[in-house]
Amino acid sequence: MIVTTKKLFKAAYGKYAIGAYNINNLEQTMGLFQGNLDSQAPFILQISEGSRSYTDKAMLEGLIRSADEVFPQSIFAVHLDHGDEETCYDCINSGFYSSVMIDASMFDFDENIAITKRVVEAAHAKGVVVEAELGKLGGVEEHITVDEADAKLTDPDEAKEFVERTGCDSLAVAIGTSHGAFKFTGSQGLHFNVIAEIQKRLPGFPLVMHGSSSVPQDEVERVNAAGGNLKGAKGVDASQFNRASTLGVTKVNIDTDGRLVWTRVHRELFLEQPEVFDLRKPGKIFMAEYAKFIAEKNGYLGSAGQLENVRQLVTE
Ligand code: G3H
Ligand code: 13P
Ligand code: ZN
Repeated sequence: MIVTTKKLFKAAYGKYAIGAYNINNLEQTMGLFQGNLDSQAPFILQISEGSRSYTDKAMLEGLIRSADEVFPQSIFAVHLDHGDEETCYDCINSGFYSSVMIDASMFDFDENIAITKRVVEAAHAKGVVVEAELGKLGGVEEHITVDEADAKLTDPDEAKEFVERTGCDSLAVAIGTSHGAFKFTGSQGLHFNVIAEIQKRLPGFPLVMHGSSSVPQDEVERVNAAGGNLKGAKGVDASQFNRASTLGVTKVNIDTDGRLVWTRVHRELFLEQPEVFDLRKPGKIFMAEYAKFIAEKNGYLGSAGQLENVRQLVTE
């Protein structure tokens, strides 16, 4: 069942976080739905602009509609990840997406507000909810590259003003994370003080943490042992999700970790069985491993086991 992120956030706020996972293809979609079913978790399925153009946006829509039929128990939102204004309108008008992210964080404060406000007006007119972004994450985002030096944590006072002026439904905040596999060096980590200050000014308002992959060291070691080169990769400690969710982080974005699972499965298989050329062999292993990964992640997020509670709330 496709629902809005707003409904999921209402159920989860302050108690646990909903996992937001990116998909690009059939195998990820199957693993994603299976893993959420196995762990009885509601979830957010994210589609980036890169994913929409990888094959065709209509292919993705078809995959997701089919997955909804194959896994009729599932409860999920369909969300555009890091959209520009034009892509947001395309998704809003498609009637398929329940939620869009307008990422105008690369513009100055007033321009970000103006763009976000336009998208909010168009989205709300069609019952679509909007995530916006304020602050700059380090690392690489879809259409911008932010140097560590230019990364800027979200200012809590600005966050309040931004939400009031735009009417957005949730806010992606920069609280120390970055996209990709190389997030931290030394003792860097999440800035809980900043999250707490934002929550004080926006009590009950759902915050979104991008760049939340954990980049598990055993996964990195396996990738490297099978011929990869991901030396120095480091991510967010998953045991911190719980503290973040009590401070209002209600959506946690994870993509890189899934890519690591994909990389490990394929590298190991082709290294160990060089005679293989049946694409279904790694595909089968990947789907099962991805499902296992999703279920484990939902355990850390606290969304595991919440499916029936959420069903009651969304069908009331
Ligand atoms: O934040 C970006 C996500 O990891 C999606 O990545 O734009 O390469 O699909 P992508
Ligand atoms: P990771 O690169 O940490 O998985 O973050 C994904 C993300 O924020 C998608 O919007
Ligand atoms: Zn992101």
